[in-house]
Amino acid sequence: MASDNVKRITGSEILSEKALSYKPLKGKTVLLGITGGIAAYKAAVYSRKIRALGARVIPVMTCHATEFLSPITFAALTGEKVYTDLFCIEGAENIPHIELAKSADLFLVLPATANIIGKAANGLADDFLSTLLLAFSGPVLFFPSMNPVMYAHPATQTNMERLKTLGYGVIEPETGETACGDSGRGRLADWPVVKEPILKATTLQTLKGINVLVSAGPTREYLDPVRYISNRSSGLMGYAVARVAVRRGARVTLVSGPVSLPPPPGMKLCPVETAGEMGDTISKLSQNVHVIIMTAAVADYAPAARADRKIKKDTSELRVDLVRTTDILSQLVKDRRDGQIIVGFCAETQDLKAQAIKKIRLKGADLLIANDVSRPDSGFDALNNRVFIVSSDGDIEPLPLLHKEEVGEKIWDRIQNMLPQTV
Ligand code: CTP
Repeated sequence: MASDNVKRITGSEILSEKALSYKPLKGKTVLLGITGGIAAYKAAVYSRKIRALGARVIPVMTCHATEFLSPITFAALTGEKVYTDLFCIEGAENIPHIELAKSADLFLVLPATANIIGKAANGLADDFLSTLLLAFSGPVLFFPSMNPVMYAHPATQTNMERLKTLGYGVIEPETGETACGDSGRGRLADWPVVKEPILKATTLQTLKGINVLVSAGPTREYLDPVRYISNRSSGLMGYAVARVAVRRGARVTLVSGPVSLPPPPGMKLCPVETAGEMGDTISKLSQNVHVIIMTAAVADYAPAARADRKIKKDTSELRVDLVRTTDILSQLVKDRRDGQIIVGFCAETQDLKAQAIKKIRLKGADLLIANDVSRPDSGFDALNNRVFIVSSDGDIEPLPLLHKEEVGEKIWDRIQNMLPQTV
């Protein structure tokens, strides 16, 4: 039960970028190429979100894009000069497309029309944006957005394939109703799908070639078809650990109990409900993975029997027999394949350090991430977490209060040092 003085965070607060205290794009410069499609209005919203992640965002608009939105909109949203014209050289010493190309870490074309895709696929450079693309040697991501028939056209598809062979990233549009009223694939991806490739493109691929299994969220142990025993885990910590691994280049499978978070892009999601289902799923998947992180708050006890029908309130008292579930983490350690790294979490409300040392010895994990789940500012369903990283030799590394994604980064920094160089 949550005590009254514990601030509960609502779903919308959890997903709000306003609460971000973590700037993974700090120090980065992002060129934002906007072309002439109705989704240009989404580029205006996303420019703000990219800025909120810490980046400097420099807008570059095609002349068709300026028919949809004014450059003033982007100037106000990014606080930067907006580039629109190839021939607007101010002072002979600075050639804008060459200078800009040298100064940026990442180039986004968002939205990308069939026209810019065709031009970039063939190396054409007849305006500022297409010229800048040729002058830029860093990572470029295209976010196509257009009418579904135009998107499906063999010319567009061939050009997109060609973009990929040239080393450009192409992020598929989503399926749904487009602005013209047609339904199909062609709608500019939503922010979570846009955000992750941006972060991946600016992150060192230190986990490339590594297979990772992460468990997250609570489990539900059913008494009858409508009632269950569960806990307050929101899944935020496990999802953050999984996202950071994807950004660093790992192949990630996320085994998740029931949570209200959107499916994270770039990984395989295996939804489960009970501790039994989670254990079975993880045991099937665990053989070919290099690293397993048990972030899930697995129920320790489940009702001995699950009633087929809703239990009626016929008696003044109801007693339920509970039986122990399998300890998945301990079982994984017993079945560990050669060189596999197994990391557990440790949720406590008292004697955190002593309990964590006892638990890591008992379970045999390589690392244990211990947190006090009774604190209002960290632990269950909070955006931030304050943890200790405990290693099998009893060493304890305390971390300050951090955004959960930053906690995920610290955990992966430790795991990376434990991975054999040959993986
Ligand atoms: N865990 C598990 N299977 C269980 C229970 C826990 O794999 N049936 C894992 C959790 O995913 C976590 C670690 O064990 O990585 C520690 O979980 P925690 O809830 O802190 O402790 P418990 O082992 O459940 O012990 P207790 O509830 O007595 O503190």
